[in-house]
Amino acid sequence: MAREIRYGMVGGHNKAFIGDVHRKALQFDPRSALVAGCFSTRETLNQETGKTYDLDPDRVYPDYKTMAKAEAAREDGIDFVVIVTPNITHYEIAKCFLEAGINVFCEKPLCFTVAQAEELEAIVKSTGLLFGVGYSYTGYTMSKVMKEMIAEGKIGKVIAVNAEYVQGWLLDILDPDSKNDMSLAVWRTDPVISGITNCVGDLGTHIENYVSYLTGLKIHRLLATRDKYNQPLELNANIIVEYDNGAHGAYWCSQIAEGHCNGFVVRVYGDKGALEWMQEDPEVVRYTPKGEAMRLIHRGTPAIHEKAGAFARIPSGHPEGLFVAFANIHREFLNAVDAKKHGKDYSCFDFPTISDGVMGVKFIHAVVDSADGGNQWVTIK
Ligand SMILES: NC(=O)c1ccc[n+]([C@@H]2O[C@H](COP(=O)([O-])OP(=O)(O)OC[C@H]3O[C@@H](n4cnc5c(N)ncnc54)[C@H](O)[C@@H]3O)[C@@H](O)[C@H]2O)c1
Repeated sequence: MAREIRYGMVGGHNKAFIGDVHRKALQFDPRSALVAGCFSTRETLNQETGKTYDLDPDRVYPDYKTMAKAEAAREDGIDFVVIVTPNITHYEIAKCFLEAGINVFCEKPLCFTVAQAEELEAIVKSTGLLFGVGYSYTGYTMSKVMKEMIAEGKIGKVIAVNAEYVQGWLLDILDPDSKNDMSLAVWRTDPVISGITNCVGDLGTHIENYVSYLTGLKIHRLLATRDKYNQPLELNANIIVEYDNGAHGAYWCSQIAEGHCNGFVVRVYGDKGALEWMQEDPEVVRYTPKGEAMRLIHRGTPAIHEKAGAFARIPSGHPEGLFVAFANIHREFLNAVDAKKHGKDYSCFDFPTISDGVMGVKFIHAVVDSADGGNQWVTIK
């Protein structure tokens, strides 16, 4: 199959984290090809990365503005750009590509302020351009399975949620003698680059988006605490949320929870049963119908419905993992790009959109307003 969907990337040089995950995930789909990039503001790293992917040197750009302008002017220009830079740059880079008429897939959190987020959303709505956001965990097959089970009423009405996204890798920040490599932390803990939060934007927004994706519930108001331990931004936060159906949820996100690597766990309780999923054991959903024993539902088995099951890439018992979760998000995004290119309906595909990005920014601001304003309830409008 010809690689007829062309994409570019801003950020994601060879040694960066998530850009490489996006590239590998996009390689799962034979339709797309990386043809352009501005992978770093450091020219050597930028050029090296272009060479790694055998790009035409003319399409390895010194800055994203030059890239947007040049790609928009080419007949064979990129169909979309993937933005995998630190948070501070998302708004300006996304806006630049949208204004050049290019579809965007941007990492989360979408941007710094609600006004910026709503401005991007307004551009997307007025232009009809596509905008995906990197809420990757909704891409796991078992996330789709749980969403279907909840929609089918398997656990009844959702009456409570408990979710945590906890890591321990930043505990070393509190230890002045630590010799561990903290290079990934450098911008995350800096308010100038990360924004008004650290772990709430990095981890908490995943919980917010994931629960909303699974249940369809929207947070009406929330009450939060955040712990900075004398650092500029929080490394730990507890958030009580109230959904639009009146139910409550408790979210915990942390980077100082020693013993946890990437412990994203979501538990949804209904009046007819409960569901639990763990990102570090992502092939399995724990399902407990009311009054019955807990059962394990495995990806790839007949217990899985056809629609959600179609996201699985290999038979049961062969672990898929994060690359496939990203690949599933990108497959849906590519479906939309492809449909749009060929003048077909592109509104029906299953990937996180600009509206999810806007909600993430509202969530971050509500958490900060609540935590820093004396732990008051804050309504999200
Ligand atoms: N969805 C997820 O699960 C997930 C996971 C990790 C990170 N992220 C998000 O992805 C983004 C990047 O995180 P990361 O961990 O990969 O960071 P990183 O520091 O590893 O990489 C950032 C990259 O951006 C480049 N860069 C910075 N400014 C640039 C500019 N103006 N022009 C071009 N390149 C520029 C850097 O050179 C580097 O290549 C963040 O917003 C983060 O929140 C999402």
